[in-house]
Amino acid sequence: MALVTSKEMFEKAYNGGYAIGAFNVNNMEIVQGITEAAQELKSPVILQASAGARKYANPSYLRKLVEAAVIECPDIDIVMHLDHGPDFETCKSCIDNGFTSVMIDASSKPFDENIEITKKVVEYAHARGVVVEAELGALAGIEDDVNVSAEDSSYTRPEEVEEFVARTGVDSLAIAIGTSHGAYKFKPGTKPQLRFDILDEIVEKIPGFPIVLHGASSVPQEYVKIINDHGGKLVDAIGVPEDQLRQAARSAVCKINVDSDLRLGFTAGIRETFENSPEIFDPRGYLKVARANVKKIVMHKIQDVLGSAGKM
Ligand code: G3H
Ligand code: 13P
Ligand code: ZN
Repeated sequence: MALVTSKEMFEKAYNGGYAIGAFNVNNMEIVQGITEAAQELKSPVILQASAGARKYANPSYLRKLVEAAVIECPDIDIVMHLDHGPDFETCKSCIDNGFTSVMIDASSKPFDENIEITKKVVEYAHARGVVVEAELGALAGIEDDVNVSAEDSSYTRPEEVEEFVARTGVDSLAIAIGTSHGAYKFKPGTKPQLRFDILDEIVEKIPGFPIVLHGASSVPQEYVKIINDHGGKLVDAIGVPEDQLRQAARSAVCKINVDSDLRLGFTAGIRETFENSPEIFDPRGYLKVARANVKKIVMHKIQDVLGSAGKM
């Protein structure tokens, strides 16, 4: 099966009350862990590469890794998506190189400028059969070199979404309702709570339109503990509670982005192996543990949070 766009995937997810997992990929073991999980559970999946991932792994290597996953996972639909495309040129380069979906993230720009850039990407992408995600509102946290502080983050304004979608022709919309990037999403001692009231207002304005939730890692404490028990130092790492992600998945949210949880699982596997088996110096010895953790985390997401198992 070849790579697909997310168009049909989102339609089915919207109507079926589940979401598709969009997992960030940076190397072979992560691609394998994610796609083995999706193949085993017969779940569609989105593999996404950030600009940072492309810089780290080299776009050609990433592309070939994903092509290999498509060959190895014949039973599932896979989308190759650009995560947080910073500008038209990056989106164009991905579209020209076989990505089936791109995100243009001009959410830090003024409304009209965001529309103008997004529209330009949509025109280029649609002419080549590629779909586009854009963002309104600002999430706190770090993406590549952009660090949005909690004070500078802002919820999506429901009164803007209809005009934005109509004027840009975009295929899906990332919104800010209280999630943030990274492993430190909420202050300790406070109750993590997404703004489902804002989501409801957005859905009222654009019924049937696929919504995307970024910053949706749940920061599983068992992996934080393994890291900290084996020489790591992650203090007060807190994620989005899983019941809120389940609620999001049942709603108009069709794509749920996860990166930090995979990083935690990967790092926990390596730290644990290093400490428990200090004689190991063959990278395969610890990378296979890291890969197995990624697979386990993705299986749990698909089965117990997103609801996309068996949706092929
Ligand atoms: O949204 C951000 C993702 O976690 C990607 O992170 O830019 O460090 O690859 P990155
Ligand atoms: P997390 O940091 O919560 O995993 O979010 C990832 C993300 O939104 C990628 O675009
Ligand atoms: Zn994101």
